[in-house]
Amino acid sequence: MRESFPTGPLCTRKSLADQFRELGVNHGDTLLLHSSLRSLGWVNGGAEAVVLALLDVLGDTGTLVVPTQSSDNSDPANWQHPPVPEAWKPIIRETMLPYDPRTTPTRLMGVIAETVRTWPSAVRSAHPQTSFSAVGPHAESLMAGHALDCAFGEQSPLAKLERAHARVLLLGVGFESCTPFHLAEYRIPGGMTENSFAIMTDEGRQWMTVRDTALSEERFDELGADFEKERTIVRGKVGGAGSRLFQLGDAVQFAQRWLLLKRPYVP
Ligand SMILES: CC(C)(COP(=O)(O)OP(=O)(O)OC[C@H]1O[C@@H](n2cnc3c(N)ncnc32)[C@H](O)[C@@H]1OP(=O)(O)O)[C@@H](O)C(=O)NCCC(=O)NCCS
Repeated sequence: MRESFPTGPLCTRKSLADQFRELGVNHGDTLLLHSSLRSLGWVNGGAEAVVLALLDVLGDTGTLVVPTQSSDNSDPANWQHPPVPEAWKPIIRETMLPYDPRTTPTRLMGVIAETVRTWPSAVRSAHPQTSFSAVGPHAESLMAGHALDCAFGEQSPLAKLERAHARVLLLGVGFESCTPFHLAEYRIPGGMTENSFAIMTDEGRQWMTVRDTALSEERFDELGADFEKERTIVRGKVGGAGSRLFQLGDAVQFAQRWLLLKRPYVP
């Protein structure tokens, strides 16, 4: 029996670059990308072709940034998908591999983000759970100084991206993936939480606990829907992927006001 064809549309490095330009991505932009490869259709060259197409458009003065989170480096007491037996938890904490920006894989960020992380010139930030990776002339400066007690706040790459007038590209994913909304959570009254992970220090591997702002994606989809109604967002298709392009700073500013009004509690 003959196998069925893959679902299209067929995308190539060139067709993707043309459509990124049509959407409004420009030479020299600093771009934060959240993505799904599958949503594009069928890409000849897969994730590598998508990254090359974006780098073609951004050119040698543009910088591509992706989230490269590694949330499994965390306290097993909080794991729910799946939870682990009580007796395992101390052993998991004791043997958790320390974050290594060169080798720790990303989790749930998608193969395009993982491809950027392993790009030859990629620079990755230092947070063991919520790192970003970047390729381009501003990669070093944008990724520097990611504080351990500041997952997505003022000492994270998000605040630097805001100052650099970066834009966000949601490629086949919704506003629930829009990390910049988290920066707004640092700018409104809210709770604090303890956050634990394994890191490498000069003294060797260490299990560390810090206090950081309590974060939640709860109602980010509604927040995004309102943002889209009230502010300028470019919408279009790249391959089969519904895509949105907007100013990162605009999203943070809108989220700050919206969260105060519509989610005025610590989730
Ligand atoms: C979770 C998520 C990554 C899943 O998207 P996805 O498209 O299914 O997964 P990937 O981007 O990793 O792409 C891999 C899939 O692409 C498809 N694929 C494989 N080769 C392909 C090709 N050449 N062309 C097109 N699609 C291809 C396959 O279905 C593959 O899935 P499989 O490995 O299970 O077979 C996505 O929904 C998402 O949420 N992305 C945003 C993440 C993010 O930035 N989060 C921030 C949180 S604060």
